[in-house]
Amino acid sequence: MVSEDPTKKTLSELGVRDATELAFRFTGLRAQLQKELKHAKGPGGWDSLREAWVGSGDSVKSRITANWLRTAPDSLRAAVARDLENLINEVFVLSTVMRPLDQLRATQADQVAAQFLNVQHLFDTEIEECVDEIDLGVSRTFWLGRSSGVLTHITDSWLKTASPQLKRIVGAEFNKLKNYVETKIEARRAAIESGAEESALLRERVDLSLPGVIRPIGSHHLIRQVFQEIEDIFVSIGFSVVEGPEIETPYYNFEALNIPEFHPVRDDMDTFYLELPKGALTPLLLRTHTSPMQIRTMEKQKPPVRVIVPGKVYRRDNPDATHSFIFHQVEGLAVDTDITFCDFTGTIEYFVKQFFGSGVKTRFRPSYFPFTEPSVEFDVSCPFCAGTGTAASGGTCSKCKGAAWIELFGAGMVDPAVYGFVNYDAKKVSGFAFGIGIDRLAMLKYGIDDIQAFFQNDVRFLRQFP
Ligand code: PHE
Repeated sequence: MVSEDPTKKTLSELGVRDATELAFRFTGLRAQLQKELKHAKGPGGWDSLREAWVGSGDSVKSRITANWLRTAPDSLRAAVARDLENLINEVFVLSTVMRPLDQLRATQADQVAAQFLNVQHLFDTEIEECVDEIDLGVSRTFWLGRSSGVLTHITDSWLKTASPQLKRIVGAEFNKLKNYVETKIEARRAAIESGAEESALLRERVDLSLPGVIRPIGSHHLIRQVFQEIEDIFVSIGFSVVEGPEIETPYYNFEALNIPEFHPVRDDMDTFYLELPKGALTPLLLRTHTSPMQIRTMEKQKPPVRVIVPGKVYRRDNPDATHSFIFHQVEGLAVDTDITFCDFTGTIEYFVKQFFGSGVKTRFRPSYFPFTEPSVEFDVSCPFCAGTGTAASGGTCSKCKGAAWIELFGAGMVDPAVYGFVNYDAKKVSGFAFGIGIDRLAMLKYGIDDIQAFFQNDVRFLRQFP
């Protein structure tokens, strides 16, 4: 062998990982076999060649069995076994047909016939193994190939070297074998072809009695439906809808909203920061509210501003029936030269009545947010017990727990300090902002008692809100 003998290594040591690389290795071995066959001389030479390739001692065959076959990955084992079998067959065939008849000890007519029969048997074994046209093509070249097919070898080493008295019988046997090989290959080809046709027909057969493919039609998630409902209400009174990034910088999420670094309200928003490569220009976090879009909107446009911002927000929280680390808000912002506290409460009241029905009342209580001044918390009279705190059955209303009011959301007049961050003139403009928690609203309106149901994607839940 030119380089190191590959059969002494395992397939993984050789870096053989797939069928193509395996085939390449066997092609190399065949080339080596051809070379050694050409140089084999004398009976001893032929015998030792066979010994070296297919003998029971240390031969190519036994090394491949030990080093390749036994350690082959499952995906390659069958291919190794098959290629090895073919190689062994080739050694037998070629070392027979390339060796002159006298060295095969065939000096009489019946001995010659026996040698031809032997070759025919080897052919039979091989042709039976051909399962497709690729296999068959390889075998056809091996047996009938013009320059180094088996039959050409027989012509060269048996027919041409035959003694005058054996020539006629060798010629006759040769023609018989040639006919046999050609007929059998053609028959095999026809069989493979019709088999392929049959299985193609089988594959393509259409069963008209089968039911068609049913594609279930999806629907909007309940959260998406509530977003849509809220958007419709605000769009009808002149707001437009904008969306913003879920990954924010602390500047937009906090600082520009008048929440400096050590302000205690940040504790409520103790949250998800992204791990960034060293040297990143700014930390990044998942936004804890939709309020950063107040800043982004005002940076981009001059007053008047009237937008709502639906979206996902994130806060570190332990999941339970009323808490989730991901939830949804609709932010609202209106800024103009003459917006009053009356416009603010009127707008909110309009929205709440549209959403829960005209029978509800609203109220607000003082609250605190760093980016609104004054800040309020809006409540709605409980729509489920008509603000009585008593359920129709006479017991305590389960929705408001008897309180008659339900806390809705935070809001307020935009703090003048915020205008400073977006180059608005705080002396000339005024406005209001609000942040509606959608999940709670949807739970209230549709009687859902576990916020987790929104995120579990259980179709039995989702199907209830088509
Ligand atoms: N961003 C506040 C929150 O998530 C809600 C809010 C928005 C309050 C707008 C006032 C004005 O808690």
